[in-house]
Amino acid sequence: MLKTRGLLISLEGIDGCGKTTQVELLGGKLAQSGVDYITVREPGGTVVGEKIRQILLDNQYSPSLQAEMLLYMAARSELAKQVILPALLSGKIIVCDRFTDSTLAYQGYGGGADLSLIRLLNLKATDGTAPHITVLLDLTVEEAVKRRGASADRMESKDIRFHRRVRNGYLEIARQDPHRVSVVDASEVEEDQSEIIWQLVQGKIAGSFSARSAYEF
Ligand code: TMP
Repeated sequence: MLKTRGLLISLEGIDGCGKTTQVELLGGKLAQSGVDYITVREPGGTVVGEKIRQILLDNQYSPSLQAEMLLYMAARSELAKQVILPALLSGKIIVCDRFTDSTLAYQGYGGGADLSLIRLLNLKATDGTAPHITVLLDLTVEEAVKRRGASADRMESKDIRFHRRVRNGYLEIARQDPHRVSVVDASEVEEDQSEIIWQLVQGKIAGSFSARSAYEF
């Protein structure tokens, strides 16, 4: 098994952008390369996190914006402490289907929650865990709605203006943090997107090795 320094990669985007498919394709490429990796999703990935996910996506509930934001944060806290931090420490690559940017985009830009409050709470909730690379799969809301089809969970059921704010929020996050966040056109063929993501990840893994050698020798 190829040893790395530990790398957290998050994939982000609006519902229907094809993120989960890209997580699977990236996982396949990492597996083929013999890299020690795990994939996780947010909210979820722990017993408590999966229960919180059920509550958050259930159409029969309507939590306040603050409750919603804190529930996402609670799920992330469990995932970061129980799964991500130990995996990072043991040198694994973690591919995360959503992370903090989702709370900033959905509850912050989409819902109107205070962005600096989200950042502060997130720092406490995750002990400062943050992705080394983030891939933003960008797609128009109209195209994403078409791809999603008829059934919709509680978040997907929010109106189109909400989803437009979320998309624009993501693009703003990418503009503010271009070294971490790479925007990939999610209207491209799936395999082409996957190849672009793979190049980004390989570059980061290679960088991780050379940084380690430079440090060690
Ligand atoms: P998923 O279906 O892509 O796994 O994501 C679950 C839904 O939860 C999706 O609509 C995005 C939303 N979400 C937030 O609103 N805030 C968050 O912090 C996270 C992680 C997800």
